Amino acid sequence: MSPEACDPADDVLTPVYARRRLTDVPRNRLPAGESDAEAVYELIHDELMLDGNSRMNLATFVTTWMEPQAQKLMAETLDKNMVDRDEYPQTAEIERRCLKIIAGLWNSPTDANADTTAMGTSTVGSSEAAMLGGLAMKLRWQAGRADSDTERPNLVMGINVQVCWEKFCRYWDVEPRFIPMQGDRLHLGVDEAVALCDENTIGVIGILGSTYDGSYEPVEALCQGLDDLHRRSGLDIPVHVDAASGGFVAPFLQPDLRWDFSLDRVMSINASGHKFGLVYAGVGWVLWRDRSHLPEDLVFYTNYLGGPEPTMAINFSRPGSQVIGQYYNFVRLGHEGFRRIHQASQDVALWLAGEFEDTGAFDLLTTGVDLPVFAYRFTENTGATEFDLSYRYRDHGWQVPAYTFPRNRTDITALRIVCREGFSHDLATALLADTRRHLDHFAGTATTPSSTRFHH
Ligand SMILES: Cc1ncc(COP(=O)(O)O)c(C=O)c1O
Repeated sequence: MSPEACDPADDVLTPVYARRRLTDVPRNRLPAGESDAEAVYELIHDELMLDGNSRMNLATFVTTWMEPQAQKLMAETLDKNMVDRDEYPQTAEIERRCLKIIAGLWNSPTDANADTTAMGTSTVGSSEAAMLGGLAMKLRWQAGRADSDTERPNLVMGINVQVCWEKFCRYWDVEPRFIPMQGDRLHLGVDEAVALCDENTIGVIGILGSTYDGSYEPVEALCQGLDDLHRRSGLDIPVHVDAASGGFVAPFLQPDLRWDFSLDRVMSINASGHKFGLVYAGVGWVLWRDRSHLPEDLVFYTNYLGGPEPTMAINFSRPGSQVIGQYYNFVRLGHEGFRRIHQASQDVALWLAGEFEDTGAFDLLTTGVDLPVFAYRFTENTGATEFDLSYRYRDHGWQVPAYTFPRNRTDITALRIVCREGFSHDLATALLADTRRHLDHFAGTATTPSSTRFHH
């Protein structure tokens, strides 16, 4: 389309380097004709420079770096639709191997070589995985109740749950029963959880790695509390563990912690492969402890590879490449590789949290002993808000979120740093220097302009 042909009122993209081969491109309308592939590549590539640098995004739990060999494999498998198991039986086989590997990591009671390995599926992320875990609990509750049509089911969880659980409750008409924070308890309390349970409770969520501060909820104590409730009242309430982050951390950094299928009451677990499973965004996992805990209504059968194959998912089509990336990481890193990478992240978290505390300007809410994540806030006598500091961090490209806590600690505003592979000790040292510079600015003791580096 020539510039003359454009309506002057039309909003157009104006390519610079690509200008010789590309004329104005309408921003919000499909162009009338074709354009040169290389020029279009340059146009979009240039525009994406405006995005932040994902490696400096300390807000996200999601993987932002993978090895070139993993990227190559994933690029080679982008054309495979994960759901098309008939067409891509080997991709399906690799998904099955991943499920067995994860079942082993989470102490599934089922023999890894048996056909009846803990049932599960890959998903697009923990949100889809959580929906499936929640639905299974709801269906199981319905199956056990003659009056489930007139009673409303409820789900008990800490107020710190990720928004996916609120979505689950709203989308599938389940009453959310939240345990508020209290004092220094910034996640679920066992006694409080047990007290909220009744005959319409479909389950209790235990979070391995709270999104707010990286702390682990006391899953073993929760199971004991519910065992006790079972003995006292006959109510037999299952636990689903939302291990979105911790599912790929605890097996390596806290191998003695009991939070998984080693606890009889844990019925199902979800995790994000794209968080500490070290795969780019787009893969999650959900597993049930065994076949009997997975309601038939959640399962659909396809008959590939000569036998009926159970599948369950909310999404249908999605790329097989993320599952291939997950399998690459398992084979490439093994147990020791995952341990070494996450230990390095935890060392950085513990060190940086300690340095922040030593400035005297911050109180730590967490230190990085659970997930390699810590949350911090200003001590009372500092004259700036956490939102001010979050804003100032951006002058050198750091993304560090500031956010408020939920009921009953809405008085807390905090900042959170997620230490992931690629956030090296050197980068952490640079962040510490920037933090000190901002503190000097807030204290009015800065001797140089607050930013001494060139703004890109
Ligand atoms: C505890 C928890 N659950 C669920 C989710 C949702 O995960 P996903 O982004 O993989 O859907 C998150 C994301 O941060 C999380 O931290």
